Amino acid sequence: MALPIPLFKGVVFVLALLPLSGIAWDLYSAGLGPDPGQIITERLGLAAFQCLLLTLCMTPFARWTGWSAWVRVRRMLGLFTFFYACLHLLAFLQFVLGWSDLGTTFTQRPYIVLGALSFLLLAMLAATSFQMAMRRLGRRWKPLHRLVYLAVLLAWGHYLWQARSDITPMVAYGMVMLLLLAVRVRWFGWASLVPLRRPARG
Ligand code: HEM
Repeated sequence: MALPIPLFKGVVFVLALLPLSGIAWDLYSAGLGPDPGQIITERLGLAAFQCLLLTLCMTPFARWTGWSAWVRVRRMLGLFTFFYACLHLLAFLQFVLGWSDLGTTFTQRPYIVLGALSFLLLAMLAATSFQMAMRRLGRRWKPLHRLVYLAVLLAWGHYLWQARSDITPMVAYGMVMLLLLAVRVRWFGWASLVPLRRPARG
């Protein structure tokens, strides 16, 4: 028997808070090692990236299982992605690099440029994910929200580029990302990945 949708939404909400509770617990029990600020920044970044991949899993899950509830939690997961990305950025500024000379911070290192571009796209998607924005944008909403595919590619580039030695996790996550994009292309064609392109009339 399928879970009632409100209950499913509640479960997903609680699960999405796990990375944050894990960090809070490790902070409380002094389990974050000698450089907690760096670890907190990394864990929040990973949580943002994982939420983004999970968001992209929702349509395939709905099609594979025939259960539409997956799609009903997609926006929530997208907003959690942005939530974790905001915390990741704040932690980076607070604990790693500081708040001075922000212009240099965001333009000097290529991996930060990629992260910042992905963040800006996620901010725009989050801001336009509500009913009112959907109504206002009308037919333009869907092509605009295809920017999520660019955002995930940029985020993955950021993740890979910041790696210092072992890139196994980045490659593994990259394969999941490519699989999700490939599934989409197979079902809906290449055009379904292209942002800002409006469907032909008629
Ligand atoms: C302005 C935006 C951003 C800044 C300034 C930023 C900065 C950073 C920094 C400083 C690190 C740690 C690098 C190190 O270990 O030395 C990092 C890692 C990471 N960031 Fe970002 N980031 C940004 C946006 C994003 C976004 C939007 C995502 C995902 C949606 C993301 C995902 C990650 C991931 C997955 C890691 C690696 C965590 C790990 O090592 O496990 N970042 N970022």
